[in-house]
Amino acid sequence: MKESKYLVFALGKGRLANKTMELFEKVGVTCEEMKDKDSRRLIFVNEELKLKFFLAKGPDVPTYVEYGAADIGVVGKDTILEENRRIYEVLDLGYGKCRMCVCGPKSAKELLRHHEMIRVASKYPNIAKDYFYNKKHQTVDIIKLNGSVELGPIVGLADVIVDIVETGSTLRENGLEVLEEICPLSARMIVNQVSMQMEPERIKKLITDLRSHL
Ligand code: PRP
Repeated sequence: MKESKYLVFALGKGRLANKTMELFEKVGVTCEEMKDKDSRRLIFVNEELKLKFFLAKGPDVPTYVEYGAADIGVVGKDTILEENRRIYEVLDLGYGKCRMCVCGPKSAKELLRHHEMIRVASKYPNIAKDYFYNKKHQTVDIIKLNGSVELGPIVGLADVIVDIVETGSTLRENGLEVLEEICPLSARMIVNQVSMQMEPERIKKLITDLRSHL
């Protein structure tokens, strides 16, 4: 059947978007325009299949999907947890695997064990707050940073950090270690709640096709 309405995808810019298009290609969701690596364009169209793709900053992907500017998004579980938007999370895509952890110098282990009032630096203040307040019942002071969070304990800004650990090399090279694991992370597909009602067949077919390739 020839589709009349565009299905719009929001993808987190960078490595995740490349991996996603590789996977989508296997199920026939393609976009030739996106293959031009020198292009500075932000929106790409496949007229034939009535698909549109746009690249956004990761943390903005759930926002576009919640408001319906995109029907579907692909983003890390870390962003989904941090942004806490009203969207459906429908599929674990299995790539972009890493862990959200509490990290710091070995000496900070005692501070965690004794539930002391500590300072926690993170790019993910909501995840940090949920973990310490709701799961550990520990009152902490959370300091929001925008990157290179490992600096926090090194320069004395914070006792520990809540951050993503993939290979662990950033921690090792800076004399820090994983102290507690919060949760595993990976890329997820998310869907706008209204789109799911309006285009159930198209979206469910995509989920089924993707699942068979994972
Ligand atoms: C992420 C994360 C860690 C690092 C973990 O940072 O915040 O710093 O990767 O990876 P590893 O365990 O393989 O060393 P990113 O590169 O996204 O930059 P940022 O610090 O500016 O957020």
